[in-house]
Amino acid sequence: MRLPHIVSSEQFTDTTLLESLFKVAREMEELDHKGPLPQLLSGKILASLFYEPSTRTRFSFESACLKLGGRVISTENAREFSSVSKGETLEDTIRVIGGYADVIVMRHFEQGAAARAAQVSPVPIINAGDGVGDHPTQGLLDLYTIQKNLGRVSGIRVTVAGDLLNGRTVHSLLKFTALYEGVSFDLVSPPELSLPSGYLDFFRTRNISFRVFEELAPVLPEADVVYMTRVQKERFASVAQYDELKNAFVLTPALVTTMKPNSLIMHPLPRNAEIAPEVDTDSRARYFEQARNGLYVRMALLDQIFNGIN
Ligand code: NCD
Repeated sequence: MRLPHIVSSEQFTDTTLLESLFKVAREMEELDHKGPLPQLLSGKILASLFYEPSTRTRFSFESACLKLGGRVISTENAREFSSVSKGETLEDTIRVIGGYADVIVMRHFEQGAAARAAQVSPVPIINAGDGVGDHPTQGLLDLYTIQKNLGRVSGIRVTVAGDLLNGRTVHSLLKFTALYEGVSFDLVSPPELSLPSGYLDFFRTRNISFRVFEELAPVLPEADVVYMTRVQKERFASVAQYDELKNAFVLTPALVTTMKPNSLIMHPLPRNAEIAPEVDTDSRARYFEQARNGLYVRMALLDQIFNGIN
């Protein structure tokens, strides 16, 4: 079996696919430390097509491909540097790039753009973030980080805090985590940035327990994972409203002392002020490891796309 396009977190409907992906990611991690890496993508070309800024996602996909022997063609500012600036439609761009590459990793500013691309693409599309929608590969690496550090996902209590309205990584992580037994969610945001109601309906139909808070302090002592997010400035129509909300929650060393000793502090990065830099040396801080894990999860995904799932 091969993975088709990876467009939405909802494509993964049970934990079996996740577990087999994590097993390969773990193997990639070990091989990367020991070397040499098998050249599993030899002869393949990955195109990265980014209409929005990226550091981790683009570089880790490109590095994953190169490490496994594939090659990369790339545009990091497709809005300006591709034929979009000449009025080309996304569909036409994808049809054309699909003739030059074996897989397209795409980040776009519109929700649903990856699904549109997948409709016409002759090669697999990987959604590297579509507007405020989904960021499935980030959700996968987040879950891999949880699984690796806690040894389980079932039964955990996850706090997500910050911009739950616009933060696509939160959307993906919640959907993936919800596939596991007995998980519960604490949703912490200002009312203006609360999780879209569709997610709450989804939790209710699946009997997943969740609580809504406007403050961080009350939930920290119970959390197994505290997942902080950036207030997504680029989604705001008004700078004044962004300025009002941007520092809604700051995880300080004092707050961290109230957390369980074996809990995890996570963040998809980039970080602004929401985690104080002094927290970085706390043994629970996992965000830089999380970014590194993106490399292994993306190596595993590319391997499964091209070589099938064992
Ligand atoms: C995130 C994104 O682009 O959604 N970054 C990432 O891929 N790690 C998070 C963000 O921009 O806040």
